[in-house]
Amino acid sequence: EKGGYDHFMMKEIMEQPKSVADCLRGRVIAKKNHVKLGGVFNHFDDLLSAKRIIIVACGTSWHAGLVAEYIFEELVRVPVEVEYASEFRYRNPIIGKGDVLIAISQSGETADTLAAMSLAESKGAIVLGVCNVVGSSIARNSHEGAYTHAGPEIGVASTKAFTAQLTVLTTMALMLAKEKGSLTEAQLSDLLTEIESIPSKIEKVLKSNDSVREISSLYKDAKNFLYLGRGFNFPVALEGALKLKEISYIHAEGYPAAEMKHGPIALIDEEMPVVVIATRDSSYDKVVSNLQEVKARSGRVIAVVTEGDVLIPGMVDHVIEVPDTHEVLMPMISCIPLQLLSYHIAVMRGCNVDQPRNLAKSVTVE
Ligand code: F6R
Repeated sequence: EKGGYDHFMMKEIMEQPKSVADCLRGRVIAKKNHVKLGGVFNHFDDLLSAKRIIIVACGTSWHAGLVAEYIFEELVRVPVEVEYASEFRYRNPIIGKGDVLIAISQSGETADTLAAMSLAESKGAIVLGVCNVVGSSIARNSHEGAYTHAGPEIGVASTKAFTAQLTVLTTMALMLAKEKGSLTEAQLSDLLTEIESIPSKIEKVLKSNDSVREISSLYKDAKNFLYLGRGFNFPVALEGALKLKEISYIHAEGYPAAEMKHGPIALIDEEMPVVVIATRDSSYDKVVSNLQEVKARSGRVIAVVTEGDVLIPGMVDHVIEVPDTHEVLMPMISCIPLQLLSYHIAVMRGCNVDQPRNLAKSVTVE
């Protein structure tokens, strides 16, 4: 049942080339310039004319929402707000006709997310669901939506559902961008071709499993971890920190790399491992200087870099290479080494990876 792996989490991490491909199947066909999510057909015009898109979710799904905010704003030029479902529902939110709310949930049963949806609906907004579990409450209670088709996720720590959420949300953005004309034909066709190559690029990252395991063995006894990223990779830093916290019980924080100097930098010494996502994108130079700030204070840096990077390896303690891709798609790749890192550290600490203490797969309490 665990496909030869010791834990469901590892099985699910390893499944991602397939789950992302399953999620794209029939929805993106680059050579035909085809991009379509069947599930948002009836409300496509509402989505297209939305004054504002509001995304609500919790936990890892909220991180997928944050990436989606950057992607929608970049590709579709529509304002997006991302809210924790629990905060949204308790503060008399300004939402109504003309707004579209997208609820993201692996289980489709998260109580706060469901409550946020019904609040939005009662105020006249269109509500779309992005869920993994077919027939779940969130799927049934939305006007329309799209399934992530990642297959059952058993490990409590969400992995393949996260990359599938990114896949669906990016596909949605590309579908809107195509209709709206907010991208040139060449840009659209490049992105469609590139998204089709993500499964094989994830496959490549998974080959670094052994070297990530080795790095993990050096840091398994750390008391704290810091994760830094900028732009599209900022939410990935948050997600990396959450993964480590929930399964290894090591305190970890994710931060936008540039915010480090406004506080967390005080924590840095030779005892502090800092994971920096430093792939080659529009914020590369800035991230390199952030990483130097960490090294100057004797922090230990594990950097996720674009393959072929010749600068960063000379500056940091460890590098994990990932294939290059368009920066809007990078989170689907850059999150993978962080999943592996948290998995190995948790296993080495003897933690129950698939069923961490105090956590449940569906959070049906408010
Ligand atoms: C993290 C994790 C939780 C969930 C959160 C939302 O690995 O599993 O943070 O992401 O409870 O759950 P869903 O997506 O089912 O609404």
